Amino acid sequence: MRIAVGSDHAGYHLKEAVKAYVVGAGHEVLDMGTNGTDSTDYPLYAAAVARAVALGQAERGVLVCGSGLGMCMTANRFPGARAILAPTSEHARLGRQHNDANILCLGERLTPQDDALAMLQVFLDTPFEGGRHQRRVEEIERLAGEGE
Ligand code: RB5
Repeated sequence: MRIAVGSDHAGYHLKEAVKAYVVGAGHEVLDMGTNGTDSTDYPLYAAAVARAVALGQAERGVLVCGSGLGMCMTANRFPGARAILAPTSEHARLGRQHNDANILCLGERLTPQDDALAMLQVFLDTPFEGGRHQRRVEEIERLAGEGE
């Protein structure tokens, strides 16, 4: 798979670890920045990754900021992006199986790197179950469209 990754300054180090994991697992990385620890604004990178995933330029995305919260809030404003902040690997598994989550948000300041990479492994390796969950995922986009 091609995985789009992005972070702000507070998530930069974990983003680099995510990239190493993704490449080691045999996937391709599309790095949307940032490229260092100079202070910057998380919405820029969340938008870039969410657009890449929604447009099919990447199959999945990973976003890292200090908490993961701002990234998740921003990414979910883009139709077709289904971003999750997973407190545990079980959340990451269910997010894939039931919700077809396509973006994983991580908080470098709150989640130890080993835990974050364990969640990433689950996020990348777990398939969507489809079936009744397919209809529900489609309803997300349909109902969100009614609010436009
Ligand atoms: C940056 O200080 C921090 O606010 C940001 O990385 C993120 O946690 C926001 O949700």
